[in-house]
Amino acid sequence: MHDFEYRNGELYCEKVRVQDIAGRVGTPFYLYSYKTFTDHFLKIKKAFEPVKPLICFAMKANGNLAVLRALVQKGAGLDIVSGGELFKARKAGCPGARIVYAGVGKTDQEIADAIRANILLFNVESIPELENIQRVAHQLKRRVNVSLRINPGIDPHTHDYIATGKSESKFGIDLDTAHLTFMRSMRYPNVSICGLHVHIGSQITDGEPFVKAFRKVLIFVTSLEKEGHRIQYLNLGGGLGIIYSDEKPQTAAEFAKKVLPLFKGRRYKLIFEPGRFIAGNGGLFVTKVLYIKQAASKHYAIVDGGMNDLLRPALYGAYHEILPLTKATMGKVQKYDLVGPICESGDFLATNRKIQSLRSGDAVGLLGAGAYGFTMSSQYNARPRVAEVLVKGNRFDIVRERETYQDLIQRERVPAYLK
Ligand SMILES: Cc1ncc(COP(=O)(O)O)c(C=O)c1O
Repeated sequence: MHDFEYRNGELYCEKVRVQDIAGRVGTPFYLYSYKTFTDHFLKIKKAFEPVKPLICFAMKANGNLAVLRALVQKGAGLDIVSGGELFKARKAGCPGARIVYAGVGKTDQEIADAIRANILLFNVESIPELENIQRVAHQLKRRVNVSLRINPGIDPHTHDYIATGKSESKFGIDLDTAHLTFMRSMRYPNVSICGLHVHIGSQITDGEPFVKAFRKVLIFVTSLEKEGHRIQYLNLGGGLGIIYSDEKPQTAAEFAKKVLPLFKGRRYKLIFEPGRFIAGNGGLFVTKVLYIKQAASKHYAIVDGGMNDLLRPALYGAYHEILPLTKATMGKVQKYDLVGPICESGDFLATNRKIQSLRSGDAVGLLGAGAYGFTMSSQYNARPRVAEVLVKGNRFDIVRERETYQDLIQRERVPAYLK
């Protein structure tokens, strides 16, 4: 569910006409609904109310400071994967005690910064990383909390690029190695291995792979406890799927109904790391038609937004529903490929899509762009990154300015011998 809808043929975000924003901001831009983001967070919170989990928004999905602040104000924590995300999380006002840190390649500097920020937990992805955290924590004379990210060897039935819980994936530690690590925990005096973490993938629409993975975690944790190890935190990751086209994903309540019974009578602090579920449907990518090009077998709508702005279609073949900002009441329907201005054949936002006839100057929105949209964008083809706008009720604010040409060269230097 989301807060983009037509009224009298005009697309609105909450109470603001999207065309009015486009007129003020120019295209392309990302448009976010405060209400959709916070409602989705609150849906998970409510569904799991009986166990009061820590819900850490996976900020790789959407790292805008205003978005983060909105969620943190509602009680969210943040799931980070880099020193840069730690920096932004702190700027957004997230207390260290609500930050968990995943990622397979944490550097010494990133580890030290996270220790100094008093984060809740490192999600450790390998034994060399654990040894490194021990070394850095020792240098800083600190003791830090760690969850071992285990790889349960589960196929989450999603796109290969976003499946992380299969045994051949680069993420996490296999159960035997994890067990051995608990047995050797004395080797890490500056580390308390007090949690387990599992994240099997993204855009998972069915509860079954989650349940399978969590059962494996529970069997493992039970055997650890029998051996005398104490587990305080179970981080169950993110991955909840959303509707892009005709998916029928589980709701937060349905997910909780499947998951909560598994943990009945257990006293772990549960942690979740949803990204897409909170942000995905709360964002629209707005772009304008530059040219309509009729080729032998196709109509191309060439728009001012490209794969550098919204990478998901090119990267995963992802589907985003197209919503013209003004709905035609009559006229014919046409089949289009919506393509960008980038010099790559892979630069498309949609293919073979039947929509109302488009003309140069028409603006359209691509739905489902609130997660892994702006965060994956780049300056490829020397294109300044687009603006981000947040709507709350009847107001809208630019929460990231459109970059300028000057921004493209800000950090570049021509050596003296070339001058
Ligand atoms: C460790 C971890 N947690 C959470 C997430 C968020 O996943 P999603 O956006 O599917 O909820 C990811 C995504 O890649 C991840 O790698």
